Amino acid sequence: MKLGIDFGTSFSLPAVTVLDTSVVLLPGGKYGIPSVFYYDEWEGVLVGEAAENAGQGEEAANLKREIKLELNSTFTADGRVFTARQIVGYILNHVKENALSAARAKLINEELEGVVISVPAAFGHNEKEFIREAAETPVEEGGPGLKVLGFIKEPVAAALAYFKTSLADKTRILVYDLGGGTCDAAIVEADSSLKEKYTVIDSDMRRVGGKDWDACLETYILESLEQQSGISLKENPGYREKIKRAAVSAKHAFSEKVGEKYRDRVRARVEINGKSYQVPITSEEFGKMTFSLLWDTIEMIMALLKKNDANSVSQIICVGGSSNMPQVIEGIKKIFPQMELRVFEPEKSIAIGASIYAGYCNGKDTFLSDMAAFSYGSDCCRNYDVDPNDKIVINLIQRGDRLPVTRQHRFITTRDGQTRMRFDIYESDKEVQQYDFVPGKQPVMQIVLELPPGLPKGTAAVLYLTLTTDGIIEAVADDGNGHSIKVQKRLNY
Ligand SMILES: Nc1ncnc2c1ncn2[C@@H]1O[C@H](COP(=O)(O)OP(=O)(O)OP(=O)(O)O)[C@@H](O)[C@H]1O
Ligand SMILES: [Mg+2]
Repeated sequence: MKLGIDFGTSFSLPAVTVLDTSVVLLPGGKYGIPSVFYYDEWEGVLVGEAAENAGQGEEAANLKREIKLELNSTFTADGRVFTARQIVGYILNHVKENALSAARAKLINEELEGVVISVPAAFGHNEKEFIREAAETPVEEGGPGLKVLGFIKEPVAAALAYFKTSLADKTRILVYDLGGGTCDAAIVEADSSLKEKYTVIDSDMRRVGGKDWDACLETYILESLEQQSGISLKENPGYREKIKRAAVSAKHAFSEKVGEKYRDRVRARVEINGKSYQVPITSEEFGKMTFSLLWDTIEMIMALLKKNDANSVSQIICVGGSSNMPQVIEGIKKIFPQMELRVFEPEKSIAIGASIYAGYCNGKDTFLSDMAAFSYGSDCCRNYDVDPNDKIVINLIQRGDRLPVTRQHRFITTRDGQTRMRFDIYESDKEVQQYDFVPGKQPVMQIVLELPPGLPKGTAAVLYLTLTTDGIIEAVADDGNGHSIKVQKRLNY
């Protein structure tokens, strides 16, 4: 059995595809597993719903949400420090346990071979490597001990799930995934004759999601409550948590229909010091306070369509929990009246798509063809004689290049008698020929070409960079005189 895991900012979900049938592996038809962590000395580590339940009142300070957006952070709870990697590991372990018990309940008793984890469209090698390390942390060290077969961009996973159900429909779609922490979009094409060839035309991401809609409501509710009660609530984690929960349930209430129409007013209720307070909010106010968030995501779709021949796409597929908000669908409809709009399995499609992809992650199939999500280039001196520390990066592979791709560039030695040329290869989202070197950034790989002694300054060597469909980057440096070196590395594609 190969699992697909949608590791979300707010919710995570496992799925499996067996004999062309996909099922979400959650007991009791739940929405998803909250990607939430909690620790105190008495309870120990709690994840998911148990964490949410424990993290109330004063204990809210021990609750950690949205760790996916803070992969370099640490979190201190009840005097103990946890790294983000540990927290991601705990969450993935909980997802795995849930998946295995739901699979057993459905009489799927196969052994777990590995997982594919979906990630935002703009996650780079380092972020994926971080998630891989968290997922592969051995069971003996308290980790999930999973084998990561690969990664897939969230909207691309949703596209695979969508195509499985309606390939005859349209062959080129734009998927809009508005989740809890990020908004991702991808234009994906299916080869309808083969049915099992998919091409990612382009993709993009904004760091905007349901949590930002929550934050607008939280501020609104908090200000009203402070005014009504005369109590300062900002610095109190227990009240902040209460207000957050009231904001989320108000937001969800706006997505509910009363009869034929969506609710146009909602009352958030919060208890403070034993007294119950109410904050009335209209859907118009809610729409206004969050409009700039929605607009940011709509601008991203506009840019993607403009860049990739808008006429070739006639359908927008909306997924992600936040696509349940009527203002989102109405907003997109208004701006793109010519497009057919569908909300497709907003909560499940990404996990299902990841599980479909898991079935093809065998290093042989070119089931899914993508473009380079980043640019790759080597550092060098702008002018060594003027300033040896003034460095630039020359991009060989450009973001957006169709994979596989090979590019080359000629570099020269800077000093007489130089016996080695070192190329540090950097990943970036910069779509330019060259850019100023950013000190402190880690290269994705390094290649050192040894040269014979006595060569004059200006001796040339050619660097070749290749990036394959399944994310192998290969660097070859060759001086044309019989000295060459090759280095390969698997990037997380
Ligand atoms: N009916 C609804 N109305 C409004 N918002 C909703 C509804 N259902 C879910 N959401 C919101 O959707 C978000 C969760 O969506 P989803 O599970 O797709 O995100 P995620 O995968 O956790 O995050 P991301 O993909 O950004 O990492 C939350 O902010 C949640 O409040
Ligand atoms: Mg998501």
